[in-house]
Amino acid sequence: MKVLVFDSYEEMSAAGAEIICEQLKNKPNSVLGLATGSTPIGMYDALAEECKKGNADFSKVTSVNLDEYYPISPDNKQSYRYTMNSTLFDHINIDINKTHVLDGMTNDPDKTCKAYDEFIDSIGGIDLQVLGIGNNGHIAFNEPDEWLEVGTHKTALTESTMQANARYFSADEVMPTHALTMGIGSIMKARKIIILINGAKKTDALKKMLSGKLSTDCPASMLQLHPDVTVICDRAAYGE
Ligand code: GLP
Repeated sequence: MKVLVFDSYEEMSAAGAEIICEQLKNKPNSVLGLATGSTPIGMYDALAEECKKGNADFSKVTSVNLDEYYPISPDNKQSYRYTMNSTLFDHINIDINKTHVLDGMTNDPDKTCKAYDEFIDSIGGIDLQVLGIGNNGHIAFNEPDEWLEVGTHKTALTESTMQANARYFSADEVMPTHALTMGIGSIMKARKIIILINGAKKTDALKKMLSGKLSTDCPASMLQLHPDVTVICDRAAYGE
């Protein structure tokens, strides 16, 4: 894995945006795998800026998001569909019909998940996947467990993830206990991966991810098997 360490969140966000702009220059009709969470927001802001300046063209891009809460309506402000629209899609020239987020309202999660993997394969796979990491080493919603799922699937959220994400939900909002998520295999099929990591609370997860050992206790450690991963982190996350 290539590891890039930056002094600030702004610099790492700019570096991530630069990699995406480069990807779009080389392949305007790229399939981008996108992530939610607070970490990529700075990069999404930088991309919106580049798009305004004419340095990034998303008109031919297809996007697929990693995960979605379950059950949740796309109109719910906490849904990842709503979040993607408000943090990125509304500010760039992407065709909203070519943006894909797992359906948090589906009556048949298994069918929806299977169809999502088939859809990604049918459009030629993901060219560049953006990832964040959970404090517990999860990627997308692949939580630490005895085993990890290969394909897109429905999963229960761990107590630690629910606590970490509770900050987004107000007291009167019900936080979903489950999610639909791309599996480790779905993520590993991406041709290129960037993973953004900032802040000292992620240091443990980052260390385990780079440890040279694979463990289902740290799902992100599986990325060590991928041939093209760039870790973009700040000094606080990288640690001493
Ligand atoms: C959620 C998402 C992950 C994300 C993680 C970290 O659980 N499912 O894709 O990487 O949060 O979020 P944050 O960047 O806010 O720390």
